[in-house]
Amino acid sequence: MTRGSLLVDHIGELVTNDGRDGDPLGIRRDAALLVEDGQVAWIGSARYAPAADRRIDAGGAAVLPGFVDSHAHLVFAGDRAAEFAARMAGEPYTGGGIRTTVGATRAASDGDLRATVGRLRAEMLRQGTTTVEIKSGYGLTVADEARSLRIAAEFTEDTTFLGAHVVPAEYADRPDDYVGMVCGPMLAAAAPYARWIDVFCERGAFDADHARAILACGQAAGLGLRLHANQLGPGPGVRLGVELGAASVDHCTHLTDADVDALAGSETVATLLPGAEFSTRSPYPDARRLLDAGVTVALATDCNPGSSYTSSMPFCVALAVREMRMTPAEAVWAATAGGAAALRRTDVGRLTPGARADLIILDAPSHLHLAYRPGVPLIRQVLHNGVPR
Ligand code: NIG
Ligand code: FE
Repeated sequence: MTRGSLLVDHIGELVTNDGRDGDPLGIRRDAALLVEDGQVAWIGSARYAPAADRRIDAGGAAVLPGFVDSHAHLVFAGDRAAEFAARMAGEPYTGGGIRTTVGATRAASDGDLRATVGRLRAEMLRQGTTTVEIKSGYGLTVADEARSLRIAAEFTEDTTFLGAHVVPAEYADRPDDYVGMVCGPMLAAAAPYARWIDVFCERGAFDADHARAILACGQAAGLGLRLHANQLGPGPGVRLGVELGAASVDHCTHLTDADVDALAGSETVATLLPGAEFSTRSPYPDARRLLDAGVTVALATDCNPGSSYTSSMPFCVALAVREMRMTPAEAVWAATAGGAAALRRTDVGRLTPGARADLIILDAPSHLHLAYRPGVPLIRQVLHNGVPR
């Protein structure tokens, strides 16, 4: 028995994601799991569970890896509830509201921004998210992008520089100059706090040439690549991301056969963000088509004050099952192991020896209930780094 060890016992259904063919969730029944030093030390049959300092009785419930939310914009100020209401009354979503949030974010204090990130991070944890990626992108000046990332880095290792979210109003008539600034002083100020670089590659934001230039600069500065692509219409983003070896292309709402083929022959994950389609009343991406082609699919919230103000991975799982033709097992995998793949992480998104002890105990006997009981708070307890939260 190791000091500080913790046994989670009487697990009715343990989702390990250990990747056996035919059962990607790697489900074990009547299982137990031992945590030591913040990691999974052992899993096996509850009958052979070792002794431990402390014990949590799961009472026959399901235990899952903590959700890995690989796409979130948490550093912002203000809200855009009125814009949401206008959309529900028939207005389309264009991304134009991003500039509203940029204004509010620039005017906010560090303390206000930190409080918002902390509140949303806590909200996520309560809903089972133990790993979150956090983007900048509502500062769009050298100082405001750097401070957004400095604050994001207080909450996660997976910080993403999104200086190329939109061209801010003061550069509206000279986008080339803005791209030069993003690649020059803004990247220099942001890179020390960032693991990733992202571009909103879309009509009305950045075209393929600009996106390529910005991603190349980010890569040269040591950042990994990700991309917002094909959200509002078909476009070059997905194929550009694949060509450049991006870890993930996100949204993937409007795909051609060529886009799907490119993804299928690549290591790039397709991250689907159904909260955005829900909140913009848009058609959902076709997850079934991607899965049937052999593409690795992740689910994430896209939590942001404009297009998707939800922090709930269970909500995204339910939407993916109901609206995107994913099975519950595929959706749970995409929200855990898929998110880890999108962040190129092997320490999270699975419950196997050596993984970080990030797990969810459900108030339910199986993972199916996450989609079967939509909107119901089913997260009974969360362990983050082995610590009950
Ligand atoms: O991922 N598409 C670009 N960025 C966000 C939306 C940002 C906003 O509307 O504030 C997204 O949906
Ligand atoms: Fe986004």
